[in-house]
Amino acid sequence: MAMKGAASSAIKAVASSGITRNLHASPGSKKIVGVFYKANEYASMNPNFVGCVEGALGIRDWLESQGHEYIVTDDKEGPDSELEKHIPDLHVLISTPFHPAYVTAERIKKAKNLQLLLTAGIGSDHIDLNAAAAAGLTVAEVTGSNVVSVAEDELMRILILVRNFLPGYHQANNGEWNVAAIAHRAYDLEGKTIGTVGAGRIGKLLLQRLKPFNCNLLYHDRLKMDPELEKQIGAKFEEDLDAMLPKCDVIVINTPLTDKTRGLFDKDRIAKCKKGVLIVNNARGAIMDTQAIADACTSGHVAGYGGDVWYPQPAPKDHPWRYMPNHAMTPHISGTTIDAQLRYAAGTKDMLERYFKGEEFPPQHYIVKEGKLASQYQ
Ligand SMILES: NC(=O)c1ccc[n+]([C@@H]2O[C@H](COP(=O)([O-])OP(=O)(O)OC[C@H]3O[C@@H](n4cnc5c(N)ncnc54)[C@H](O)[C@@H]3O)[C@@H](O)[C@H]2O)c1
Repeated sequence: MAMKGAASSAIKAVASSGITRNLHASPGSKKIVGVFYKANEYASMNPNFVGCVEGALGIRDWLESQGHEYIVTDDKEGPDSELEKHIPDLHVLISTPFHPAYVTAERIKKAKNLQLLLTAGIGSDHIDLNAAAAAGLTVAEVTGSNVVSVAEDELMRILILVRNFLPGYHQANNGEWNVAAIAHRAYDLEGKTIGTVGAGRIGKLLLQRLKPFNCNLLYHDRLKMDPELEKQIGAKFEEDLDAMLPKCDVIVINTPLTDKTRGLFDKDRIAKCKKGVLIVNNARGAIMDTQAIADACTSGHVAGYGGDVWYPQPAPKDHPWRYMPNHAMTPHISGTTIDAQLRYAAGTKDMLERYFKGEEFPPQHYIVKEGKLASQYQ
């Protein structure tokens, strides 16, 4: 087994305790499967479009030149899918949140050779993390890779909702002209109270971007920022989420999807928000109770809801968020700009390289390591 130094002894110690299936590669050819969205006619339009099936993260030649087998597909659901076919003998699965390969406990049980689950992007909630930990698998993501991409998108969605932009856009397309239909609910962002639920990497970048708009900025998080950073960012800490919500004109969600945040915004919590609140959620769809959000948009308690994350993905044609009033929803796109793709492709390649050499990953990349979940997932 090709392992080195401290990493090697730590891994051996865990291996002998029986909770891991070898964190790092044994010598020889590996079977690596990547699940990405398919680009079809768009694949050849940009040489840097690496995040799709056709682009395959730009690592095919590199992997194959080292004798590894690399299979890439978008066919991820059900017992007859391409992914399912490779589950019994793959060593590494690379998936992305944009077209999530749902890695259930059942799939983990069948994947006898699996050692490493890499998320090309951020957010590994499509994997049953407890099952992965129990099976001794390593789960890692490219932390930080698309945080600017998401923060910029959130700022855009806030403005789209506050200014009531979309009805005007539709008028322009439909040959209409009705200023009143837009103006009666269009506002300035200046002077409004904006609260982020979660102020980690993306939340902080959003707050920094909002500062010049002269808003009242609040944040709720498990952790309070250090006072110097808090002062620089200009946001006030709210320890109690339910106390923050009624103050906010705009709420932005920036936590991961965990056991604690799943369904956090149910009917009761939405009722605690100010009437007419705007919500932007690029974090994960399942942090919301789907029907409760659709009902609140219909009643007007929520005046607008925007985001790019749904559950499940791809969202079915009858998903209620497609049909609710005043939404600014898109497919899952914010973290997969070309700039983001290049960064998460490079980060994935770096982790594969380290895995082949038996080296540790950057510590912030680990979501499951040696049978333990990262602290915010516990
Ligand atoms: N739409 C996209 O394309 C896209 C791209 C990247 C990330 N994301 C999502 O955004 C999430 C956040 O990303 P990040 O890079 O900012 O992560 P991060 O780990 O830097 O920040 C997450 C923050 O949430 C806080 N948190 C966690 N659980 C909490 C809880 N129960 N209550 C209060 N605060 C809690 C953490 O303390 C942390 O400060 C990701 O986990 C992912 O789900 C979406």
